[in-house]
Amino acid sequence: MRSGSPAVAHTRAELADTLGRAEAETAVVMTMGALHDGHVALIRAAKEKVGTEGVVTVTIFVNPLQFGAGEDLDRYPRTLDTDLEVCAAEGVDVVFAPEQDEIYPRGGPVVRIDPGKLGAELEGAVRPGHFAGVLTVVAKLLNLTVPTYAFFGEKDYQQLVLIRRMVQDLEMPFEIIGVPTVREPDGLALSSRNRYLSPSARSAALVLSRALNAGVEAAPRGMPSVLAAGRTVLETAHDVRIDYFVLRDPDLRPARTSGAARLLVAGRVGSARLIDNVAVTLP
Ligand code: PAJ
Repeated sequence: MRSGSPAVAHTRAELADTLGRAEAETAVVMTMGALHDGHVALIRAAKEKVGTEGVVTVTIFVNPLQFGAGEDLDRYPRTLDTDLEVCAAEGVDVVFAPEQDEIYPRGGPVVRIDPGKLGAELEGAVRPGHFAGVLTVVAKLLNLTVPTYAFFGEKDYQQLVLIRRMVQDLEMPFEIIGVPTVREPDGLALSSRNRYLSPSARSAALVLSRALNAGVEAAPRGMPSVLAAGRTVLETAHDVRIDYFVLRDPDLRPARTSGAARLLVAGRVGSARLIDNVAVTLP
């Protein structure tokens, strides 16, 4: 829509005022800030989708509701000034960067979105309450930004699946679009949490994407080979505690023995918890 710096809104009133003028298609990219090239890929996909007439909003909000006790809420990187520079360079139209009180004015919400059974599996098993916190803030930010399209990364695959389900199951009139994972040249998926990694932890973390790759390469030999190939790689891991390594169908139900599937891995490297996943096609 515009060139130059984005309009920055800190309150819902400012946001409504800025967005109220938009008549074209609108897109939102929700983030917790500390923007990297993965977030930039979402912004570019959003810009491309809505075109030069459209309006792209980036939200930057570290959502306390999705962090468990003992997680990294306090030390989560907060880099608003550089984030605004990234948004300006990418031609973002509006940045919504609210304070915690603006999103949760009466403390935590009493009513939250229940992510169902899938919300308690995989990431949800390790991080109880995480997806209720994610879906609740995503629903709030969708309702505040009222976008035509909302973009989310495949990097957080379970989050993407649950957001799609929420929008379907609750008849929310927004189109959810997934964007492929952006990786470093050596395969490490970009993440704001990568900055917690020491050089040795960073190289240890590569075992996650290597295991996924081994699974993809073994896919023509079928499901047991995918898991076996990945596990062989994970057994070489040093200083990495694997939480899960599983094959599911694209909606994260139990994998069928043929066709499209998703291979997902999560582990702890030093003090960082990392997740990654890839698409796999079984014969
Ligand atoms: P955050 O971790 O900041 O990620 C914001 C968006 O960027 C998510 O949709 C995530 O999947 C996407 N993303 C992160 N790393 C990526 C990569 N390497 N390649 C492609 N996309 C990537 O996810 C969240 O924040 C929060 O849970 C949020 C949805 C904002 C709700 O608080």
